[in-house]
Amino acid sequence: MAQTFSLSGANGVSDIHIGTGLLRNAASLILDTFSPSRVHIVTDTTVAPLYLDTLKAQFSLPVSETLIPAGEEHKRLSTVESIYHDLLKNGMTRKDLIIALGGGVVGDITGFAAATFLRGVSLCQIPTTLLAQVDSSVGGKTGVDLPEGKNLVGAFYQPRLVLIDPSVLSTLPDATFADGMAEVVKYGYIANKEILSLSAKTDYRQHIEQIICECVKIKRDVVAIDEHDTGLRMILNFGHTIGHAAEKLGNYVDLTHGQAVAIGMVCATKLAAERGGEDLSTPLIALLTHLGLPTVLSYDREAIFEALLSDKKKFGGTINFILVREPGRAEITPLPAEELHELILKL
Ligand code: NAD
Ligand code: GLY
Repeated sequence: MAQTFSLSGANGVSDIHIGTGLLRNAASLILDTFSPSRVHIVTDTTVAPLYLDTLKAQFSLPVSETLIPAGEEHKRLSTVESIYHDLLKNGMTRKDLIIALGGGVVGDITGFAAATFLRGVSLCQIPTTLLAQVDSSVGGKTGVDLPEGKNLVGAFYQPRLVLIDPSVLSTLPDATFADGMAEVVKYGYIANKEILSLSAKTDYRQHIEQIICECVKIKRDVVAIDEHDTGLRMILNFGHTIGHAAEKLGNYVDLTHGQAVAIGMVCATKLAAERGGEDLSTPLIALLTHLGLPTVLSYDREAIFEALLSDKKKFGGTINFILVREPGRAEITPLPAEELHELILKL
């Protein structure tokens, strides 16, 4: 049985359906929601041979597509521009529909193209990685990277529809599945420790649909309160402050986003202990190891702090660090840069 959640955002309601086998039924759900004259699907060269035909074959109206090369290095403005050209070449208008079929990279790029093409065209997200299903397809953050850093250009733009089919995860490489589990563990630590118990099971993959639903509910609730990331939504960045710095030092190649978040969460728990809280790092390390994720920060601490500070335009003088006092409860803690510097040197 599919489950449905709704999220009200500034540009309208986003309906999120979660159910095994949903992809085979996608067009009927899409046409219940939209009345386009044509549809344009954006996907990548890995996902296209797996799922594009299944989706395309369900439509009797004209369907065009853009295939982008897979990989974070293609999450850039030139890729968005190539999508605009394809949209124009295929006669897409503001009444038509853009579908993102892929992982977080495809979703972020396509969302940004949909937000900006003709000042906004309807968007449906069909996430195909675990990370995209539990996180990036929900909540309306879209964007691309610049040579200076990740996600520096973007827009908040809610997809009108999100279709999450856990069965497509069967083709994911184990390491990519593990990337998504890092975000799952994040949700467990910030808001619902039941997710941690499910993830710790030997057969956690058998529970993945339930895990996805629990994560999406948390994200929906957080984004409903703070869509534009000025307060509560920052808790979704647990593990991301040091994680992003590590990702940057690895030139976005040595560590995937999920791996960096896993290491960042371990650092954040050690840092919380250093400030007098309970040390939650031992059970966290055990869980991440069980899930096939790294837990050790191998970069120079001074370099980590420098990389983190280069984000200071986002933070101002203090850094909003997400600390977890007990599993399931996160706090946004403004830390002066000096204090954070000292804490990072102790890691
Ligand atoms: P990704 O999109 O690069 O996908 C990882 C790999 O899996 C790619 O090679 C892709 O082709 C392949 N793939 C996708 N689905 C597949 C399937 N079903 N079977 C086999 N292979 C498949 O990476 P990701 O981890 O999904 O997303 C990471 C991106 O998401 C980053 O750019 C990150 O910044 C972004 N992100 C965005 C948000 C947000 O709120 N918008 C949140 C978290 C992360
Ligand atoms: N993944 C963080 C956010 O959506 O805010």
